[in-house]
Amino acid sequence: MISPAVFLRKALRLLVPLAVILSSYLYYYPVFLGCAFPLPDKGPAASEGSSAYFETLRQHVPFLAPLSPIEANSSTAPDTDPGSEATPPLFPSRQAPFRLLALGDPQLEGDSSIPNTYKSSPFPHLVKLWKRAIFKTQMPSLRQRVRWMLHDIVDFYFEDIPDTIESIRKRIDHAGNDFYLSLVYKTMHWWTKPTHVTVLGDLVGSQWIDDAEFERRGKRYWNTVFEGSEKVPHEVAAEPENDYSLTGFLGIQPNNETETWERRLINVAGNHDIGYAGDLTVERLERFEKMFGKANYELRFELPVSEAAAPTILSGTNEDSDRLPPELRIVVLNNMNLDTPAICSELQDATYGFINKVITTSTAVEYKGHFTVLLTHIPLYKPEGVCIDGPFFEFFEEDMGSGLKEQNQLSEDASRGFLEGIYGLSGNPYGPGKGHGRPGVILNGHDHEGCDTYHFVNQSFGEGPQDRSWEVKRWRQAKRDDIPGNANSPGVREFTARSMMGNFGGYAGLLSAWFDEDVWEWKYEFATCSVGTHNLWWLTHVLDLIAIGGIILYPVAVIWEASAAAKQAPVAHASKKGNEVKA
Ligand SMILES: *[C@@H]1O[C@H](CO)[C@@H](O)[C@H](O)[C@H]1NC(C)=O
Repeated sequence: MISPAVFLRKALRLLVPLAVILSSYLYYYPVFLGCAFPLPDKGPAASEGSSAYFETLRQHVPFLAPLSPIEANSSTAPDTDPGSEATPPLFPSRQAPFRLLALGDPQLEGDSSIPNTYKSSPFPHLVKLWKRAIFKTQMPSLRQRVRWMLHDIVDFYFEDIPDTIESIRKRIDHAGNDFYLSLVYKTMHWWTKPTHVTVLGDLVGSQWIDDAEFERRGKRYWNTVFEGSEKVPHEVAAEPENDYSLTGFLGIQPNNETETWERRLINVAGNHDIGYAGDLTVERLERFEKMFGKANYELRFELPVSEAAAPTILSGTNEDSDRLPPELRIVVLNNMNLDTPAICSELQDATYGFINKVITTSTAVEYKGHFTVLLTHIPLYKPEGVCIDGPFFEFFEEDMGSGLKEQNQLSEDASRGFLEGIYGLSGNPYGPGKGHGRPGVILNGHDHEGCDTYHFVNQSFGEGPQDRSWEVKRWRQAKRDDIPGNANSPGVREFTARSMMGNFGGYAGLLSAWFDEDVWEWKYEFATCSVGTHNLWWLTHVLDLIAIGGIILYPVAVIWEASAAAKQAPVAHASKKGNEVKA
């Protein structure tokens, strides 16, 4: 028979390398998978993923570390100290100044999926059985008492025990899931170094949980899943105003302020956080805003321009210019109650009021230099077959207020409000700005599968604008058909992030935006990165646990075998010595 120590040694020889390899992969997956923020499309090598990867890698390798744009630009400036002249930028940083890590639908589960949650004890039938046995309950006869006690025994075996096992399983599952999500966030954040982070709604898994459970999930969200991050403070989350003040700057030397933005989570309200229009009450919105930040606001970041470009900007001395200082406007929008019927019309009015303010405080479409990143939860309308989810609406029964109960997409009308209102796009080529509207991009979540599409209107179709309607294609198809950038088909791209949940592969979206001073326009590109399903996480950690257990047990087994051998040894030793003496 093989001895336990030998068995352990052999098993560990196999297990330890496997556990190390799997764990290294899991905890450094973006490094192995080549994940990186896309680079600005200048220079010949920019389109290659490897160059974006290299650009990310050098931020982690001291002697390759890029200089910040300010340092790189001012290396010839007179105030630079002589010491730094000796180290010119070997490779100046080519990273985009705006890098948004976009995560979709973490949907933290909790009590509502644990069978034992609403029970007074884990084994209520055992308690009942005991009470009946000690005559603590009223029963008409002994026969009935025994009959019900037998019932209790059956229920104990066929209800309490399975429920308890399932509850334990669910709790372990939830804890593992929190760590899995936290791995996605932490690893991606560490490796890709975003300037901003957003979670595109459905932070928690149900809008119908009570306040205590909402609080508990909120704490798990901040203390485990997104540990080290913070919400956008209410005083920073601004209402759109005409004389707004800037939130901050992009592309500058890292300082306290830019580092704060790297830590902040721009949380979007989703249907599982506050409910659809038929569920959305003042109380649900209040507890969300208290825990996760405001539901509607804007952030405006300005990008400093080069000295050469500065004089071309619209100013008192340059009144004919159509160039505004480059600005990136992030609009965070709760689009849960755009469609009707809404249970609380005041909240719906507030949402529409906010959208109107966003529109009236936008620059006129004739000006260039601003870019609107819209962060919201429910995707825009698309006919069946474009993405996985088709159009779908469901309403509550009359006794529940007849409100909107569920929707896969916004209605066509609400979507048109985005395209024609916020983005100012139009089917009329003779309208303001030729109907090309304001540049930008829409990000959302909700459908879990993810989708990348282009919404556009064909300005050469039919007799006039009345014949033209909004069309949508998958982004790749639209590119193949040469629609984006086509002067006759103005439009906007919509990126629906695939969920970061385990069964969808722990996806993360990477949006880069940069400014092209030659054409005075913002440009952008997306990439995605996926760790793999939660099964890999579980496999790795179970193997790790077994390996650690084995490592602890191995010396115990060796010592135990040695002492067992020593107990039998004296006889053998004696005879051996005897032999030696004889010899
Ligand atoms: C726009 O409409 C015109 C006229 O019907 C058509 O020739 C063209 O292919 C359409 N373009 C797109 C992108 O669908």
